This record gives sequence, C-alpha cells and structure tokens, in this order.
Amino acid sequence: MLKFAKWGILTGALLCMTCTCAFAGAHGGGHSRPHDKGTAILLVTFGTSIPEAQIAFSAMEKRVKAAYPDVPIRWAYTSTIIRKKLDAQGSTLESLPIALSHMMEEGYSKVAVQSLHMMAGHEFHYVRVNARKFAEMVEGFDKVMVGRPLLSTDEDLERAADAIVKLIPAKRKPNEAVVLMGHGSHHPADSVFSAMMYKVQKRDPNVFVGTVEGHPDFEDVKSQILKKGLKKAWLMPLMSVAGDHSVNDLVGDEDDSWKSMLTKAGVECVPVLKGLAEIDAFGQIWVDHLKTAMRHLQ
Ligand code: CO
Repeated sequence: MLKFAKWGILTGALLCMTCTCAFAGAHGGGHSRPHDKGTAILLVTFGTSIPEAQIAFSAMEKRVKAAYPDVPIRWAYTSTIIRKKLDAQGSTLESLPIALSHMMEEGYSKVAVQSLHMMAGHEFHYVRVNARKFAEMVEGFDKVMVGRPLLSTDEDLERAADAIVKLIPAKRKPNEAVVLMGHGSHHPADSVFSAMMYKVQKRDPNVFVGTVEGHPDFEDVKSQILKKGLKKAWLMPLMSVAGDHSVNDLVGDEDDSWKSMLTKAGVECVPVLKGLAEIDAFGQIWVDHLKTAMRHLQ
C-alpha cells in the first residue's frame, strides 16, 4: 500500500513535469505565438449607464496610461444589464470573457486585470476566478494577474479614510454630518464598510458610512445622526462612479431616497456627487494595485 502510494506520488510528479513541459511548449517562449504582442491591461468595472458618470472611467484610464504609456488598455463591464442598456444606446462594451477572448485572439501573452471594484465581494471573485481560467487554456495567456479592488488592505483603508476627509467640502461645519453611501453586499467582505466608518470616524466623528445592500445600513446612519442631534448632512457616494445609486437612492426626489428620508427626519441635505474614480487620491490606490499585478506578471 505504502509502495503503491509512493509510486503514485512519483508518477504524479512525473506526470506533473510532463504536464509542465507540455504547458511550457505550448506557451513558453511564444512558440505557438509567432506574433507575441506582450502585455496588456484590462480594466474591469461593474459599469454605469449614466453618461455623466463615465468621466470617472476616463479619469481612471488617464492615470493608468500615465503609469504605463506603452501598454494597451482595454475595458470590460461585468454587469449584463448595463451592457444591454448601453448596447441599446449604440455603445457596445465587452464582458470579461469576451474582452479576454479578444485579447487572446490578438496575440497578447500576459494580461494584468485590474478590478475597479470597491471591495473583494462577489464581483471581484467572479473576475479573479474567471480571468485566471484564461491562463489555463491550451494556447491561452502565459500569465494573468488580477489586481485587488480599492479597499483591500489596512493601508488601503487608511489611505481612503485620509482621502475622504480631504474630499469633504470646505464649507461643511464640524457639527454637520457627512454621509457616505457604499453599495454593500451579502458577501462576507461587506464588513469593510464598518471598518471604513471606524477609520474615518477616528479622523472626523461626524462622518458616517452606510450601504444600499449591506451594513451599516441607512437606519444605522440615520439613528446616529439623530442621536448626535446633527441638523445638516452632506451626502456623498462611496462608489467608483456617481451612477444610478447616487442619482436615485442617495439624492433622488423619491420618498425612499436617503435625502428624502433624512429631510423628513429634520436633517437638511446637501448632495456632493463625485465618483471616487474621478479623484486622484482614490484612483492612485487602484493604480498601485495594478502596479503590484504588473510586477507579478514579470
Ligand atoms: Co446596485
């Protein structure tokens, strides 16, 4: 039995080596890729159907171009709904698998996939798992590296908290609330928003973080504002773009927007709509994560 097990391990190791050789033969040194185009970058976002919110993505692309002037940049939108909406308006955006397939067809051998998501939730894991599969294919990419989302490490949270404090309009007084709306999720990574609130409140106790679909939720934020007796709130998105959730759920005129519900509770609201990807201090965190991915590609 032991002998057999040993033999099994040995065969396994040999098979593995054979495998590696075959893999290297197909991929290494660009044998099967006579026109290896080298490295490319794929920026991946949920997407937005709000045209004004697109400036956040343009700003992001500019930053990436500045960091890697010679590397081609492509985009992928993970949201099917948004891609369909944009398609109907005449602009076609690719999904992650379609974008990677095209890049493979064009002859790129290495791809750095940078997630422009806020946190490592469902969307990010979809990107990470599926992008990596493209390196497992026969004649697929030699290497695919996926850059982490905005709020990944403690350092990211510290940097983001500093950036948030700087983002608050100068006109806002210390006894006025600042409410940041994150998306939130049922994914365990949702706890990053509670961590964000903790970090930000160490710098400014009247800044609150809430989410649309996770925790802390709107009630958490509202009750804290009322408990502290704050009479005015500055409403800002904690999302890469000031898209649909900002325009409708945060500052919309419907009864169930955060603005309407706070106003009804006696808190005067001032909207400040800017997607985080528009702002350099946040954009640079994503770029730094891309730099890590690019380093690991080499
Ligand atoms: Co949503």
